[in-house]
This record gives sequence, structure tokens and C-alpha cells, in this order.
Amino acid sequence: MKTNSLPGITRREFVASSVAAAAATGLPFKSPAPPRAGRNPSRVIVDTDPGVDDALALLLALRSPELQIEAITPVAGNVPLDLTLPNALRMVEIAGQTEIPVAAGARAPLLRRLVTAAYVHGENGLGGAVFPEPKIKPVPEPAAIFIRQIIRKYPGEVTLLTIGPLTNIATALNSDSDLAGMIQRIVMMGGSLSGGNITPAAEFNIYVDPEAARIVFQSGIPITMVGLDVTRKTSLTEVHVQRLESGQNPVSQAAAKIARKALEHTREQGFLAGPNMHDSLAVAAFLYPSILKFEDYYVDVETAGELTAGETVGYSPTAGDLRRSPEKAKLAAATMPIRGSAPTLAGTRSSPVVRDKFVPNAKVALDVDSGRFFDLLIGRLSGAS
Ligand code: BDR
Ligand code: CA
Repeated sequence: MKTNSLPGITRREFVASSVAAAAATGLPFKSPAPPRAGRNPSRVIVDTDPGVDDALALLLALRSPELQIEAITPVAGNVPLDLTLPNALRMVEIAGQTEIPVAAGARAPLLRRLVTAAYVHGENGLGGAVFPEPKIKPVPEPAAIFIRQIIRKYPGEVTLLTIGPLTNIATALNSDSDLAGMIQRIVMMGGSLSGGNITPAAEFNIYVDPEAARIVFQSGIPITMVGLDVTRKTSLTEVHVQRLESGQNPVSQAAAKIARKALEHTREQGFLAGPNMHDSLAVAAFLYPSILKFEDYYVDVETAGELTAGETVGYSPTAGDLRRSPEKAKLAAATMPIRGSAPTLAGTRSSPVVRDKFVPNAKVALDVDSGRFFDLLIGRLSGAS
């Protein structure tokens, strides 16, 4: 089983790299390695809820030769599955890659009622941009089973690019206790360390299915979290849309149609900035990690809070002033008494000191070069690069 055969970096290196680098050098940021281009593209599964920004992210992925897309697995999120599924099929058809299997995912979160975001993505999930009914059909297997089959077929090789609620991924993990160890890593759009967008505390993808997100963050799979901390810095502009409109290929034309609607929608709502390209940034983070700056964090998901359900809570052993002193950071990481939440009656016998629990489990994107990001996104979609 090739659990360590990551493109350019092993699972163990991924987890250890930034902590070790920060402690040894005092440098807080370290990018994960990019995928290989050319003859050995990286195997990925794109888990998605299209969704305006999902649609553009899918088109970006479909036009990226670095990726071998093993499956696309729509899930209920921005709009119900009855719309995210055909929308995903449409994107595959528009990109002319109908050989890529699309597997229908979950209709509802693990435990909660579905919350959608049609107020952002329009009733059809594509901002009101209309495309023909797709001709191709999904594969018969449900997404969670299909995801499991692919990961077991290529142990250690598959990266999950998740840009929707994490229900499909958690369902796959729940079905097979060995699966997490066979997944190369997850690059997700989700979460935030700086406030939410669906509630003051929570980002939409995590909010929709916090229990699923918690399973994923606690799975031990190396995670790259591309959250609102960076995706809020990616606003689509009139110039971007015009570049797409002038692109002479079906992908550019479709992307332009969706992007134009999304831009109009934000203007109608009175926003000064255009829509954020949340999900494309996660795809870009996998393709070109150097576009972003990352820091290692322990991240967990609040599932019980009345006001904070779906919040991603992050802890960095090297944050704050400690960053300036590698020695202090090292010492703090070894000795800082981090306490968990106040013990409940049931938990009073266990130690309240849970330092060991706060070992980083995610690389969290904290900054982005949005110019480079849009060069990549618009360039690839329009066919200019
Ligand atoms: C995320 O929520 C959805 O509305 C977007 O598609 C994106 O995945 C941003 O919070
Ligand atoms: Ca999405």
C-alpha cells in the first residue's frame, strides 16, 4: 500500500514540515508542495455543491492538466442535490470531459436539516445563468461508495478537493475505518479563523454539516484549509468578466455567463466588491500553493454551540509574539498548558490539560496573492494560458 507516495511530499512530511520549520527557523509560513504537471497528473476527487463559485472552480479543475480528476461528487449545499448534480454534469459537458464519472452525493447533512444559499447562488445554483439539460448521467454508485472505491483503488494517491459541505467525505470515512490512512490529503474550501459568512461564527460549508466537518478534521488526514481568511480577498471584477467574455472557447463563454450573473447580483445587492471566488481559490491552492501563505494550526469544529455551531476553532503553537522567537515557540509548544473546555460532570475524572490534543492538523491559508490567483483563474478559463 503506497500511503506515502504523495506528489512531492509524504503524509508524514506534510504534518511535520511546518512545525519543524517554524521551530527551527522561526519562519511561520510554509507552502505545501505543488502537484506534478505533465505525464503524471495528480489524482483528485472534486467534492462540490455547484453553486456559482463551484461551477467556476470545476471549470478551472477541468482545464488544469496537472489534475487527473477521478470523480466529481456533488452534494447538497448551496442548492439541493437535485440541482447540484445536474449543474456538475453540465460543467463536465461544457468542458468536453464526459468520461469523468459524476456520482450523486448526500441529499442532506449527517444529522441536520439542509440549509441552502439560493440567496447567493440563485434558485438554479448558477446565479440564474441557464444551460441546457445535461445529456450525460451520473454513475450508479452513490458518492460515498464511489469515493471509497477510488481511494482503495489508488491508496495514498488521491487528494480530495472539497468545495462544499463535507457530508460525502464523512460518510465515506464512517463506512471504512482504514480509509483516512489511504487519502493523500484534503484541500478544502471551508472554515475561517476570522469570523463567518452564514453566521458571525461560521463559514457556510462547515455550518451546513458541522458534524461531518468535525469527522474530517479529526480524521488524521493532512488538511489544507482555504477559508474565508483568504477567500474574502478574491473579488471578481468587471475586467475579469470581460476577459472571460472575450475568450473564444465554450468554457470561457460558460464561465463568463455565470460570472456576469454573479457580478450583477452583487451590484443589485449594493455590494461595492464583486463576488468572492472561494472555491476556485481552493483549487488554485492545490495547483499553485505558493499563491498563498500557510500556517500550521490545530483546527476543530464547534458542533454544540448555540451561537457558534459550525465555527472552526484554531490554535497555533507558534502564533503571536512567539513567532519572533523560535526558542520561545519551541518551549511554548512543549510546555504551554492549554486547557480544553470546562469539564462536564461526566468528564471531571479526565485531566483538563489537553495539550496533546492541540497538535496541528491543518495548514491554514492566511494570506493570498489575489493578482496571481486571478491570472491563473481567468487565464485558464479563457484559454489565454
Ligand atoms: C462557500 O460556501 C458556498 O456558498 C460557496 O460555494 C463556497 O464553497 C463559501 O463560504
Ligand atoms: Ca461550494
